[in-house]
Amino acid sequence: MIELQHISKRFNKGKVNEVLALQDVSLTIPEQEFVVVIGANGSGKTTLLNILSGAEYCTEGNVIISGTDVSRLPEYKRSKWIARVFQDPLKGTASDLSILDNFRLAAIRTTNKKLIIGVNEAFKKRVKDTISILGMGLENKLEQSMGTLSGGQRQALTLLMSVMDDTRILLLDEPTAALDPRSAALILQTADNLIKQYHLTAILITHNLKDANQYGTRLIQMGEGKIIRDLQKTDKAALTLPQMYEWFN
Ligand SMILES: Nc1ncnc2c1ncn2[C@@H]1O[C@H](COP(=O)(O)OP(=O)(O)OP(=O)(O)O)[C@@H](O)[C@H]1O
Ligand SMILES: [Mg+2]
Repeated sequence: MIELQHISKRFNKGKVNEVLALQDVSLTIPEQEFVVVIGANGSGKTTLLNILSGAEYCTEGNVIISGTDVSRLPEYKRSKWIARVFQDPLKGTASDLSILDNFRLAAIRTTNKKLIIGVNEAFKKRVKDTISILGMGLENKLEQSMGTLSGGQRQALTLLMSVMDDTRILLLDEPTAALDPRSAALILQTADNLIKQYHLTAILITHNLKDANQYGTRLIQMGEGKIIRDLQKTDKAALTLPQMYEWFN
């Protein structure tokens, strides 16, 4: 369970460009919930994920994960169980390294069995099997460098890497914004499958209302650093796309 308790985040305190990016946000997310977050530019969505992942510390409030206060735990320590996928497909993987080596790095991040990973044929087989579910043929290109792949291919692999081993929480910040419609659909479908298969707790930020309508078990709208709507499963399922468009008129 994730508990955000009275979170505020202030940037550039005391300066002319001071911003209150989050204002007393409280949010409880039970295990295996898939929360979709929408909201205008600058409403605090990314800041919320940053505070959860440890990329930023909150100015006020507490971040509790599975009963432990992690408010001041650095990002690299949280990354054992929190994975992130960003808007930019170039972020999160090493361009010069092969697909297989990128998976090795990801596994090292989330597991304690470091020494086995490097030499193990079983690991290679596991990576192959995992990649083959994408249906992109990338399982036969394990030695190809990550930098030579398309944005959609990279994003699909980033997603797979992010759910390895001890990952419990998956944070997706506009993961399809840079992709063509077909790749975008594949990425979201893959994410949805992985979230279910690995029983992950997930948060997806998107500006695509159709995706927000289609995916997830809960819908949150942010506005000016606050949660302004919070729809649970039944209400979300009953929500129509035209109703959502009206929120932004
Ligand atoms: N590192 C930072 N330093 C100063 N201000 C920041 C910083 N990060 C975010 N902000 C400000 O905080 C506010 C919230 O930004 P945030 O990136 O969380 O919005 P967002 O909802 O993710 O927007 P978008 O939809 O454009 O990605 C904005 O006013 C932004 O300018
Ligand atoms: Mg953002």
